[in-house]
Amino acid sequence: MWPSSADATLIGRRAFSTLRPLFSHDNPLGLPRSGTPPSFPRRRGLPEKRKIRDVKKVVAVSSAKGGVGKSTVAVNLALSFARRGIKTGILDTDIFGPSIPTLLNLSGEPRLDENNCLVPLTNYGLKSMSMGYLLPQTQFDNATGEVPMDTTPISWRGLMVTKAMHQLLHSVSWGPLDVLVLDLPPGTGDVQLTINQEVLIDGAVIVTTPQDIALRDAVRGFGMFQRMDVPVLGMVRNMAYFACPNCGHQTKIFSHGDGHHSHGDDRGVIAECKRLGVDFLGDIPLDAQVCEDADRGMPTVVAEETAERSARRQAFLDIAEQVAKKIGLEWH
Ligand SMILES: Nc1ncnc2c1ncn2[C@@H]1O[C@H](COP(=O)(O)OP(=O)(O)OP(=O)(O)O)[C@@H](O)[C@H]1O
Ligand SMILES: [Mg+2]
Repeated sequence: MWPSSADATLIGRRAFSTLRPLFSHDNPLGLPRSGTPPSFPRRRGLPEKRKIRDVKKVVAVSSAKGGVGKSTVAVNLALSFARRGIKTGILDTDIFGPSIPTLLNLSGEPRLDENNCLVPLTNYGLKSMSMGYLLPQTQFDNATGEVPMDTTPISWRGLMVTKAMHQLLHSVSWGPLDVLVLDLPPGTGDVQLTINQEVLIDGAVIVTTPQDIALRDAVRGFGMFQRMDVPVLGMVRNMAYFACPNCGHQTKIFSHGDGHHSHGDDRGVIAECKRLGVDFLGDIPLDAQVCEDADRGMPTVVAEETAERSARRQAFLDIAEQVAKKIGLEWH
């Protein structure tokens, strides 16, 4: 999927920003500072898939469509694991629109260890790495109202993205981890392919919303993993229904694929899962609190840890338990 013009603007701004000596140490990504495009040794054939160092299992959270709640699901899954004592990390592979710094309320420049690997930032017992820690936020010039423009050559941009992705995948010092959750960017394009080609992924979780249009994209995402020999652990239906905070009544706001707004699942996500032979992992309600928790950097699984009964927290935990069991993690 091509970035929108706003994204492209951001890429360019960030790409150029990396050329400046912004960091107290050498540019952590090793990206070029000169005005000439970098050259990287051309590799022949496909890169070999390899394990991420010190990481036992890798789970990718994905959706072909943007904005369906991948990052929200990914971070709550990872936190569910971490809160159960499973050593967990989350890698934000969304270079153009990193979400993890906001979701975990983390910022700042990661340290480099003695092997020149990036040291993850941690919150709520969850280790994390994101492009958002490495690059400065886009500066919108309030005084002039000037929006930064992308002037990076496309070929250069592509190389930088590949290089950055490579570093994020292979140069982070995770320490021993039982599981690393990859929060993938939306789509089934080059970035997703690079990740799938370079890293051994133990399983993918596909996030969709109930609408036909999102589901169709989810099926496309399924196809990508199938072609890349990555087992699909199942589908999550996010924003499945709206639970009224006052009376608890559940309303299916989005069409569930059957042409009606309140009917069964004969043509929706569950039916599609059956058709594809994929497990349906569960529903997450459309809930203002889930969004609010995410925005303030304390995702629901942590925010409602002490709540007596939190259906939305339980929804994430139930999905995490299934995923954990599927990839052989101990769930206590
Ligand atoms: N179940 C939910 N209830 C309410 N709001 C939600 C829910 N899930 C996600 N959101 C909100 O929807 C927005 C998009 O979610 P999120 O960033 O997780 O999607 P994404 O698929 O990762 O997006 P992108 O494709 O841009 O990476 C966020 O504001 C998030 O807080
Ligand atoms: Mg996201």
